This record gives sequence, structure tokens and C-alpha cells, in this order.
Amino acid sequence: MKKVLLFLSALVFFALAPEATNGALHGKTQALINRANKFGPYLGLVIPNLFEMNPLLQHPSFVPSELVIDFAGKRFRFGTIEKKPVILVMTGLGMLNAGVTTQLLLSLFEIEGVVHYGIAGNANPSLHIGDVTIPQYWSHSALWNWQRYGDGPSNELPLEENGDYTRDIGYIRFADYTTSNVTSCSSPFDNLLNNVWYQPEEVFPIDGDPEERQHAFWVPVDSHYFKISRLLEGLELEGCVNSTTCLDTTPKVTRVERGTSASIYLDNAAYRSFIYNKFNVSPVEMESAAVALVCHQQRVPFIVIRALSDLAGGGTAESNEAATFTALAADNSVKVVVEFIKILLSFPWLLREVRS
Ligand SMILES: *[C@@H]1O[C@H](CO)[C@@H](O)[C@H](O)[C@H]1NC(C)=O
Ligand SMILES: *[C@@H]1O[C@H](CO)[C@@H](O)[C@H](O)[C@H]1NC(C)=O
Repeated sequence: MKKVLLFLSALVFFALAPEATNGALHGKTQALINRANKFGPYLGLVIPNLFEMNPLLQHPSFVPSELVIDFAGKRFRFGTIEKKPVILVMTGLGMLNAGVTTQLLLSLFEIEGVVHYGIAGNANPSLHIGDVTIPQYWSHSALWNWQRYGDGPSNELPLEENGDYTRDIGYIRFADYTTSNVTSCSSPFDNLLNNVWYQPEEVFPIDGDPEERQHAFWVPVDSHYFKISRLLEGLELEGCVNSTTCLDTTPKVTRVERGTSASIYLDNAAYRSFIYNKFNVSPVEMESAAVALVCHQQRVPFIVIRALSDLAGGGTAESNEAATFTALAADNSVKVVVEFIKILLSFPWLLREVRS
């Protein structure tokens, strides 16, 4: 009996531990969240890091409110853009951070839509540093099935029969990237790394049965958001850092077919060309697909706006100056986000205009 009491008192002690020590919701935070939600619904602005968030915090259209809620290592900042209530949150680098942060945002707050923005590498040789892209589809391109040496495209993958893995999306063959001439007499080239097959994510949508997986590879952004983003394409962007340093080409806003993400910093020209040719992707970066996959499963509309740096992996004169224009790219992505929100708010009017 004494032992049981001791055990129970230990439980009570842990339950009363300060809220900073774990990720469970406690009274004070819950009260702040409840109060915040009375002023929603909000647009959620999900931002990879501070140098992409700061230009928005300083933008004249952003009016901060007093309220800031810190929870589970994330800071949720409140305010308005053009009178629309918004919540800003920084994810940190990579897919895990972006997914967790987006899920927290959607689980804690009344969110009507998500705008994710930042800078990105470029895989599309017809675009330039400073161009701001709005892709229609996003994929996570680093969920892989790495095939054993000796097997090829006609061999079933392990667990393929269960529906765990598939050969539907395609693969990269490492031997195609061999450069040594040592074996050039014995064509075709071979490589022990063999093939990597791209896999769709397992997803569990909010309106599906829990624990019953579905699959998703190309996740579309919200069709309404994408449609109205066409109106951003004429937007004038800043092309100069100062009076003497300007981009070679006038930057533009452009809607593109696809972007792709992975927790991999891509600085390799061969892989960049491969994914461009295989998937027709323009921006390549490390967060958007996680935001997309969470919004897709929670059935919350979202759009992604990413300003391009130079071609990932180099290979052009532009590469040498990419660092000079990173801040300019971040500023331009913020400019497009603010303009997107203006269009979103005035869309009923625009709709009437188009019809009349
Ligand atoms: C391989 O050999 C070809 C033909 O001799 C040559 O053009 C090429 O530069 C060589 N590649 C490497 C990586 O040595
Ligand atoms: C403009 O910016 C470039 C790149 O940061 C710098 O090297 C240059 O000194 C600047 N020029 C002026 C006039 O500020």
C-alpha cells in the first residue's frame, strides 16, 4: 500500500512539472491559444528561417500585435497584413522541422490557409537568380527504396507486393554518372550503388480512417490560391542591391509546374539536371513538401512562394554572384507574399471584374 502511494505521489510530481519541460499543453498556454483563436481565422505564414522572416517583420504592410505564444520550442507571432489576421512561425531547416511546425500551427490555431515562402535552389536552366516561383505541385523526393546490387528495373522491390513500395515513380541509376575512364572499354558502366527508386509518402488524411494509409507523391497546392496567383505574374520585383549592383536579368514572378524538397542541401549539377529532366522541377529546397504534405492531410489550403538562387551545383556565371543576391531574393519573396494576400482579400471583387 505504501509503495502504491509513493508511486502515485511520483506521478503527481511529474504532472505538475513546469510546462517548459515538455510539449504538453498546460493551462496558461491553452488560455492564450483560446483567446487568440477568438480573433481568427488566420492565415498561417510558415517560414524556414530568420533571414526570410525578418523582411516580413519589417515590411510596412505587417502590423504586429502584442501577442506572441511560445510553445514546444516554436514561437507563434501574431499580427495583421492588410487587416487580415496572420500568424508567423519559423520552422528551422529541413523536412522534420517544417512538418512538425506546420502540424502544430494547424492543430493549435484556427487557420484558414497557409502561405509558405522563402528562397530555394534552382533546377530549371530557363529561370534566373531572383525569379520568384509558384509551383503547382510539390513532392518529397528522398523517400527511397535503394535496390540491391544485381537487381534492375524488372526485379520486384522488397515489400512491393505488400504495397509498401512501388516502381511507379522511377529511379536513378548511379552507373549513369560514372566518369572514370578505367572501365570505359567494358561498356556499359556498372556501379555497386546500383539504383534508387523514388517512393510516395504514406499519408493519413483527416477525413480518412486512422491507421489506414494512402499514398501521395505530387501534392497540388490549393487550386483557388494557384488560380489567383496568376495575377502576381506581372508584379515588378527589385533587381538591384544598391545603385551599382544589379541582377543581369530583370527578376520576375512565374508560376511553374513543380518543385521538390528533401532534407538534402543540393549543390550538385549532375543530380540537379537529373531531377529537372526526370520530374520537371524548378525550385529545389528542404521544407516545402513537408508543409504541403501536412496541409494536404489536414485539408487546409496552401500555396508556396519561393525565390530562386542560382542553379544548384553551379555551372553558370550567375553562380559566382549568388551570395550577393540572397537577401534580395528573400525581400522579393516577401513582396510577392504580401501581394498574394492583397489579391486573396480582394478576390471577390476581382471575380466580379472578370465576369462583367
Ligand atoms: C574519358 O575519355 C574521353 C575520351 O578519351 C575523354 O574525352 C574524357 O575527357 C575522359 N573523361 C575523364 C573523366 O577522364
Ligand atoms: C553595392 O553592393 C555590392 C555588393 O554587396 C558592394 O560590393 C558595393 O560596394 C555596393 N555599392 C555601393 C555603392 O554601396
